[in-house]
Amino acid sequence: MAYEMITVDTEDYVALIRLNRPDALNALNTQLLAELCTALEEADASEKVRCIVITGSEKAFAAGADIKEMSEKSFVDVFTENMFADASDRMMRIRKPLIAAVAGYALGGGCELAMACDFIIAADTAKFGQPEINLGVMAGMGGSQRLTRFVGKSKAMDMNLTGRFMTAEEAERSGLASRVVPAKKLMEETMSAAQKIAEKSMLSVMAIKESVNRSYETTLSEGLLFERRVFHSLFATEDQKEGMNAFMEKRQPQFRDR
Ligand code: CAA
Repeated sequence: MAYEMITVDTEDYVALIRLNRPDALNALNTQLLAELCTALEEADASEKVRCIVITGSEKAFAAGADIKEMSEKSFVDVFTENMFADASDRMMRIRKPLIAAVAGYALGGGCELAMACDFIIAADTAKFGQPEINLGVMAGMGGSQRLTRFVGKSKAMDMNLTGRFMTAEEAERSGLASRVVPAKKLMEETMSAAQKIAEKSMLSVMAIKESVNRSYETTLSEGLLFERRVFHSLFATEDQKEGMNAFMEKRQPQFRDR
């Protein structure tokens, strides 16, 4: 499919999706979100993709939902169209790992998009924030929920109520970003992490993604049971035999996703 607001490049089993609306700092309008979801679904279904990276530009990962597009909408409009529900649900259904490579602004819906990925690698230039309060609204794609789970109540309240931005360093210290790298190295580091994941057994990769995500949705004892069952089930795979035999034979495993 031809896209206008994103680019998609697939190489060595990694799909790199770049948000590409530079004039609006990659603000997430309806078209961009629809293109992003379609690209994610295509990558998820493709045998040539084993890991997906979402990134923006040096200046902005994404500066939020498109304020110009939203400004004239009424409650009835946004309630009826169920604004952001479709994009959010479609992203949650992606089973392959998603890495957000964030440089510059990740604000509002931009921060929420990054948090909807499986982990965030931040350039030292990244700035995270939920400034919707300055617009007379509040976060609407996870900023009051996911951010609280990442950084705890105190910082989530601070960010959402004052609208202040978090530096990359603070984001890493608080558990929002998994690592911070110099801006020049952002894509090299992220693609290298994606490559590492792409070399693993997809069965383990998808099982781990499901299990970690389950920890947000359930009690500890139910989560531990879920983990144990999935762990046990991986012993039904050829990749478990291959991985353990390769270790004992002191060679690299050749996983076949079986
Ligand atoms: N929506 C629409 N357009 C946006 C935008 C947004 N979220 N963010 C930036 N732009 C546009 C600007 O309007 C500007 O366009 P024009 O040149 O046509 O005027 C262009 O991008 C460049 O922006 P600035 O001139 O403002 O650039 P700057 O470097 O001076 O400032 C910024 C950068 C601090 C990120 C500033 O643009 C800004 O504050 N943006 C809005 C951030 C925001 O409030 N995000 C939350 C949106 S609401 C939301 O996301 C709801 C939700 O939870 C889903």
